[in-house]
Amino acid sequence: MSTNDLTDNPGTGTPLPPQTRLVGPADAARYDSRFSALASGTMSSAMRDLMAITERADIISLAGGLPDTEAFPREIYDDIAADLGRDYLASALQYGPTDGMLELREHVVNIMAEEGARARVEDVMITSGGQQAIDLSIRTFVDRGDTVLAEGPTYPGAVPCFTAYGADVTHIPLDDDGMRIDLMEEAHARLVADGRPPKILYTIPNFQNPAGVTMSLERRQRLIEFAHANGLLIIEDNPYGQIRFEGDPLPTLYELDDGAGWVVYLSTFSKILAPGIRVGWVVAPPAVLRKMNLGKQAADLCSSTFTQRFVTEYLKRNDYRDHVARLNGIYRGRRDTMLQALEARFPSTATWTRPRGGLFVWATLPDYIDTKHLQARALERHVAFVPGEAAFLDGRGRSSMRLNFSGVSESLITEGIGRLGEVVSEFCSLHDALNPGRS
Ligand SMILES: Cc1ncc(COP(=O)(O)O)c(C=O)c1O
Repeated sequence: MSTNDLTDNPGTGTPLPPQTRLVGPADAARYDSRFSALASGTMSSAMRDLMAITERADIISLAGGLPDTEAFPREIYDDIAADLGRDYLASALQYGPTDGMLELREHVVNIMAEEGARARVEDVMITSGGQQAIDLSIRTFVDRGDTVLAEGPTYPGAVPCFTAYGADVTHIPLDDDGMRIDLMEEAHARLVADGRPPKILYTIPNFQNPAGVTMSLERRQRLIEFAHANGLLIIEDNPYGQIRFEGDPLPTLYELDDGAGWVVYLSTFSKILAPGIRVGWVVAPPAVLRKMNLGKQAADLCSSTFTQRFVTEYLKRNDYRDHVARLNGIYRGRRDTMLQALEARFPSTATWTRPRGGLFVWATLPDYIDTKHLQARALERHVAFVPGEAAFLDGRGRSSMRLNFSGVSESLITEGIGRLGEVVSEFCSLHDALNPGRS
């Protein structure tokens, strides 16, 4: 073997041992026939693809769903991390129960009570982020080809779960009052008549990702009545319920279900504490939770005991609501700044939502603009957003975009929306020049 066969280990500069050859793109065909249907069918989340770009310091990222790490209570986190090392190292480094640490599940019950939902500790399972709760829910109920109802647009991170398990998703349109329950009922009736009744309905009633809208009380009640009358199982995903800038909290679907067992509830500490800890939860009736527990055993045995202990200590020592109130103050200012910048810098043909909480605005441009193409031009100007198509499984959403206002400062929001507005205006002018007399 010549010295040319020695390839540096990328990133470390350490020479690889002589027998090692790096497998390159040319070798890809070797694996194609071996990939499972699940791996072949899974689409990447557009957000994850964008994360690599948006990590760059020179990009103003309106793409992520990132809480502002500057808002984290740094000293408190420091203290807890030090105490974990001193007092809890053995338990925090050991395997734990699949359904999570009892003490943390008790805190989860109290947090849910803050939102008016009475859960029993035995119905709670800790998950590795809210994302795992979605994955386990879909894997528990959906076989390839099964029908599922979801808002359109839906959470872009749920899209790879739906595609992985082969869900046939019917999107239900939204307006300012959340999912159009009348249209959901029509879609449900069509699918039932077709002999393909929906297995589940997935919804984010509060400050929806990506649309930012909230389901009205009247629609929540109608949805629950429909679920009870028709045996429709609802997966309620609620990461943003507490990220509220105005208005009174509305009851969760879980609460309105009143123990009837037609709602599986999902949430996460990612948005109220920190996403890096990867701690979320699911609340489900015992028979469902048993199946989810088996799915979790297969996936990761248990969620990190280290971060579960971290969250438990945080909740024991602090009133997390103070932290959330502080976050909400910061995000409210950023939301206002984004809405003002959109008003000032986007053309009058664009529309957008006005969220009363959460992290996102959903903007829609004239339908001749494909936001995927716009994105390439925006990245040249060092601004990123999520193209609307990422929030649909049927190719819709092409002229929409998701804009995040929590992750960057107000001045960067103004700058970023300004640059985006210029790109949008250029597309509009080009279209007008090519189509004189038509708008
Ligand atoms: C609606 C929704 N569900 C679930 C998640 C995933 O949460 P986690 O980061 O805890 O996995 C997110 C994250 O953005 C979300 O917006």
